[in-house]
Amino acid sequence: MQEDLIEKTALAVFRSNRVVAFTGAGISVESGIPDFRSAGGLWERFDPAEYATIEAFRANPKKVWAMLKEMGTLLENSRPNPAHLALARLEKMGHLRAVITQNIDNLHQEAGNTRVIEYHGSHKKLACLSCGREYAREEVALTALPPLCRCSGVLKPTVVFFGEPIPWGAHLEAMEEARTCQVMLVIGTSAVVSPACDIPVAAKRAGALIVEINLEETPLTRQVSDWILKGSAGRILQSVLDGVAGRSRL
Ligand code: APR
Repeated sequence: MQEDLIEKTALAVFRSNRVVAFTGAGISVESGIPDFRSAGGLWERFDPAEYATIEAFRANPKKVWAMLKEMGTLLENSRPNPAHLALARLEKMGHLRAVITQNIDNLHQEAGNTRVIEYHGSHKKLACLSCGREYAREEVALTALPPLCRCSGVLKPTVVFFGEPIPWGAHLEAMEEARTCQVMLVIGTSAVVSPACDIPVAAKRAGALIVEINLEETPLTRQVSDWILKGSAGRILQSVLDGVAGRSRL
């Protein structure tokens, strides 16, 4: 059963030149980065109401930065896993137009994908809450927390906290890709955070084939997705890549 669905997915990807991947934290779990809502996920250790809202950050930047510093070290030490590498390979083969990611870990870029839309921003840059000046993460020593701008304002990673708007450019680009793609691979997301979770819905409405890759079903599975490939993103995407590569040799 699942082998047939993997074959069907590989065929659809092989035949289309407008394939888009939409990814969440689950694609980076095999790189050692915990996701948010699975058992043992980040929101089990850190209450998002205290660590992930812009109000919480403004109220106590030092406390939130303690979590950010721990996460930053984990992200800096993580590497792309077979799932990221398979998507990069598909782009190289001309079978993947873009990756729209909710992740801030930069692993799609490190794997080699060149068109990556960072819907929730990136941990690689910091910005001053007072004057807006931006810094590369590497430029800022995290000895004293919170790190401060030259203007003495508090620096925050350019990631989207709850209560903050999605970067306008990323939203426009993501919706454009969703509305024009023929196939969307929805990989490793629980699809419960809006407006990100509207992206596969927009693709579906525009007539795209929606294929989920996840360990478990999500709210998309029975209403939006055409089928779900259940299992680890690394193993499944490698199988899909093998299927596409096999057709390319015919
Ligand atoms: N392979 C495939 N899927 C996996 C794997 C894996 N190895 N490991 C976990 N998953 C799945 C889980 O089953 C779950 O459905 O990945 C999903 C991860 O869901 P979340 O932890 O909710 O992460 P995500 O969907 O990216 O969260 C969206 O919420 O907190 C905010 O800003 C944060 O961008 C994040 C957003």
